[in-house]
Amino acid sequence: MLTLEDKFERLIDGILEQGYGVLDGFLSPDEVAALTRTLRQRHQDGAFRPAGIGNQQVTVETAIRGDEICWLDAENALPEEQQYLDRLQSLVDYLNRTCYLGLQDGEIHYALYPAGTFYKRHLDRFRTDSRRRMSVICYLNTDWQEADGGQLVVYKAGPDGAEEAISLLPLGGRLVCFESDKLEHEVKPATRERISLTGWLRTR
Ligand code: OGA
Ligand code: MN
Repeated sequence: MLTLEDKFERLIDGILEQGYGVLDGFLSPDEVAALTRTLRQRHQDGAFRPAGIGNQQVTVETAIRGDEICWLDAENALPEEQQYLDRLQSLVDYLNRTCYLGLQDGEIHYALYPAGTFYKRHLDRFRTDSRRRMSVICYLNTDWQEADGGQLVVYKAGPDGAEEAISLLPLGGRLVCFESDKLEHEVKPATRERISLTGWLRTR
């Protein structure tokens, strides 16, 4: 049985060796279900907004990204959300201890992609925000199938220098992590609604 730290170690190996790491079972099915309920509740309460692009993230441009987001506020976190933040903190502590990343805090939002929406190829770090160090995405989808689409596609240099595109399914409980200023990626359209918790671990 792998401990959480064993899984973190594999995640880091992935980032070092291929530019991204995947950790399945970061959340249990029950935890995924609980966070899906809190997402739905906040969505019903009108807490989601169309996501923006650019430095200030205010311009809504659905030809580039079509998701709706809701920022997590640690002060008003529900128990399930606090548990997620605590779990992420254990990853932060591990990264700081083993990789000396000097991570200071995080910014996390729920993301909901209505069917048919996408996020075109991009990098997560903006010129005006050099604090974003690591991107961490955890999916909340149940029974996601290849035919549902919605893959996260990451682009990396292959052995011969040619570009390689790797597709990852947004499976419930799966965490994907990469360096925010290095790895270009995109979200493909899905045939059904696609939900996640997406965030950035930041340096000082
Ligand atoms: C983002 C993003 C990827 C995903 O929100 O910046 O790239 O798989 N998300 O949801
Ligand atoms: Mn991104």
